[in-house]
Amino acid sequence: SPAGGEQWASRIGVILAVAGSAVGLGNFLRFPGQAAQHGGGAFMIPYFISLLVLGIPLCWAEWTMGRYGGLNGFNSAPGIYSTLWKSRWARYFGAIALVVPLVIYMYYVVIEAWCLGYAIQYLTGSLMKEGSNAEVFQTHFDEFVGADANGALFQSRRLGFLVILAGTFIANFVLIYRGVSKGIETFCRVAMPAMAVLAFIVLIRVLTLGTPDPSKPDQSVLGGLGFMWNPDFSHLSDPQMWLAAAGQIFFTLSVGFGIVINYASYLKRKDDVVLSGVTACSVNEFFEVCFGGLITLPAAFIFLGAAAGSQGTFDLGFKALPNVFAQMPGGRIIGFLWFIVLFIAAITSSISMLQPVIAFFEEGFGLKRHASAAMLGLVSALGCGFVLYFSEGMVALDTLDFWVGSVLIIMLALIQAIIYGWCFGIERGAEEAHVGAHMRIPHFVQLMLKYVVPVYLITIFAMFCWNNVPSQDIDVATLDANVVAGLQEGELGTTLLATLAAHDIEAPAGSKLVSD
Ligand code: PHE
Ligand code: NA
Repeated sequence: SPAGGEQWASRIGVILAVAGSAVGLGNFLRFPGQAAQHGGGAFMIPYFISLLVLGIPLCWAEWTMGRYGGLNGFNSAPGIYSTLWKSRWARYFGAIALVVPLVIYMYYVVIEAWCLGYAIQYLTGSLMKEGSNAEVFQTHFDEFVGADANGALFQSRRLGFLVILAGTFIANFVLIYRGVSKGIETFCRVAMPAMAVLAFIVLIRVLTLGTPDPSKPDQSVLGGLGFMWNPDFSHLSDPQMWLAAAGQIFFTLSVGFGIVINYASYLKRKDDVVLSGVTACSVNEFFEVCFGGLITLPAAFIFLGAAAGSQGTFDLGFKALPNVFAQMPGGRIIGFLWFIVLFIAAITSSISMLQPVIAFFEEGFGLKRHASAAMLGLVSALGCGFVLYFSEGMVALDTLDFWVGSVLIIMLALIQAIIYGWCFGIERGAEEAHVGAHMRIPHFVQLMLKYVVPVYLITIFAMFCWNNVPSQDIDVATLDANVVAGLQEGELGTTLLATLAAHDIEAPAGSKLVSD
């Protein structure tokens, strides 16, 4: 039996715990936001390819490696990696696998607290702003999250949010402190079904909204569904989109950075990993495409029309949706339910970011549970304070989400695929995975893990770096427009002429541009 004495109590319990980690803000906010930013239907193609090629194979690899590591006496990535790969590098890579969830926790818990805060504001009624417009909700959100200025959240009149955040923090730590089975498993067994029921109620209400204003036929639920689900092949050459799709798959499945490894390390030898892994992924995808993809964007379309497509992650959930709720019958209760759904989804995820680190403090430093929890509380509160302070325009949060939540998780997934495919080995991997398995993994999946996944990840990563090399390209269309505008205003400078000359561009037709 696994190390440290901790074990899951039941099969359904461990599946719900992993699904609880997977289903989170990534499903309801990040996914629709990413899809919107990348053209809706266009995003879905690289998204599903990433799910099949990267997500599900790595998920099986992680369940397999986790159970194996647990049986060898380890619960955290540094220990488990070193049982799979006899090199001292294994421990350093394992350490990165702890930093990623820890850093994600630092900003994720802040958004989690926003959700709780918004739910409370629906209870008190303060979010039901009559006859309001988009700007009202924009201002309300900016004030609430301190997007107006750095340090704004620490002003005394805004301490309410810090109280809510403290409560959220404590709730996370209470669950973790109670342990894997008594804390995480017991909670997820109740919270996951409850969340599903509530999300279903919100979904039904949103889908029955139809076209509230017949004079604006494009502002309808159907418009939103069309935007999201009409594949658009013309965007497929955009490398940033492939990177974003892979990043979203890892983020949403909680795969690639030691979470599943940690959870699976509390399994027993004969516990199934193959069917459980694929079940947890399917539950996540159900919530992502059926709830995230059918609630957030379609509802936003009702008020924004196609402009919903250019909205960011928080614009949809925290601005467009409250606007919808404020104007629909029963909006107050639906708004409350929506943010409670988000909060439950978030807390079952944030506890999964803490558990691997607690396990590491216990096994790496030999600390007792309360000392580990205290240390982790301190470290995460400091990081969280940083995110809270640099709240202007949400820079800290966005920066961390991009570098850690997208770029670094792709690198870690690459490392993990290499450890599985090349250090542990796919023959051993296949044999190990099938112990106690209720389903077989087709052999080509092993080959994919060894060859396709690393090549795929290296390719999108290289394309990403290439794309982010500061570029000398100039956008000719914009330049043309500027030249014409400049002429009209009669203030065309020598700089513009020089730029044109340096790029061998002829002056646009219709402009009287002459260089003398
Ligand atoms: N999978 C979670 C979500 O979709 C996020 C998460 C990230 C959970 C990292 C654990 C670790 O919201
Ligand atoms: Na998810």
